Amino acid sequence: MTVAAIVPAAGSGVRLGAGVPKAFVELAGVPIVVRAVEGLLASGVVDQVVVAVPESLRDEACALFAGRPVTVIVGGQDRTTSVRKALDVLCGALPHHAHVGERPDGPPGDGPHVVLVHDAARPLTPAALVASVVAAVEAGNGAVVPALPLADTVKQVDPAGVVYSTVDRSVLRAVQTPQGFRRDVLERAYAAAGESATDDAGLVEALGEVVVTVPGDARAFKVTTAWDLRIAELLVREEGS
Ligand code: CTP
Ligand code: MG
Repeated sequence: MTVAAIVPAAGSGVRLGAGVPKAFVELAGVPIVVRAVEGLLASGVVDQVVVAVPESLRDEACALFAGRPVTVIVGGQDRTTSVRKALDVLCGALPHHAHVGERPDGPPGDGPHVVLVHDAARPLTPAALVASVVAAVEAGNGAVVPALPLADTVKQVDPAGVVYSTVDRSVLRAVQTPQGFRRDVLERAYAAAGESATDDAGLVEALGEVVVTVPGDARAFKVTTAWDLRIAELLVREEGS
């Protein structure tokens, strides 16, 4: 089966506050988006990648990925739009969105069988996690998300911050990326999607389709704040990678 990955990297990184878009912030000398894409390719199960970047960084991204099986496109105003534009390029709907390499390998209409969607902001995601998500899709699941149990107690609060209940955390999971989909399932989810979502599997759930979980990995954490970047730097330094 052909496996493609979409990497939304077009956010501005307001919460990180680094002064440049988060995906282009360097982690021990290597931009976060490069680590995320190379991690996908290192799994050995991903054939091609489409990366959605801010328009101002398109040329820089093309240079970073020269010679790699990567197509760079310009993203949109929210994550959902960025992923949708990449999906259109990958699956042949709107080729005018493509700016480099026009269309990944293969004739029009002959798209990938499996599509992963992976945040650029998860630079330390282990290759083994990528492989396990793909394996779960290839085993017959239409939508697969890596998920971890919650460590903290979770409470519901009112707008003033007053607690009104404690949630049973044993039934809750924090989900990560890469999320994996049979290509037709993801295409249908995006065709039906209206509002912007923080998570691609949420759009599949909205179709009434089954989404299954595989065990997540702490190293697939998302770099959101300066604290997260500091943790990522310590991990990279510890491992000399
Ligand atoms: N993303 C994107 N296009 C957007 C917004 C987000 O491709 N218009 C991507 C980000 O680059 C990131 C992923 O979606 O890899 C997850 O988003 P998030 O962690 O929220 O990143 P940012 O939107 O960049 O950060 P912030 O919300 O703090 O501004
Ligand atoms: Mg954001």
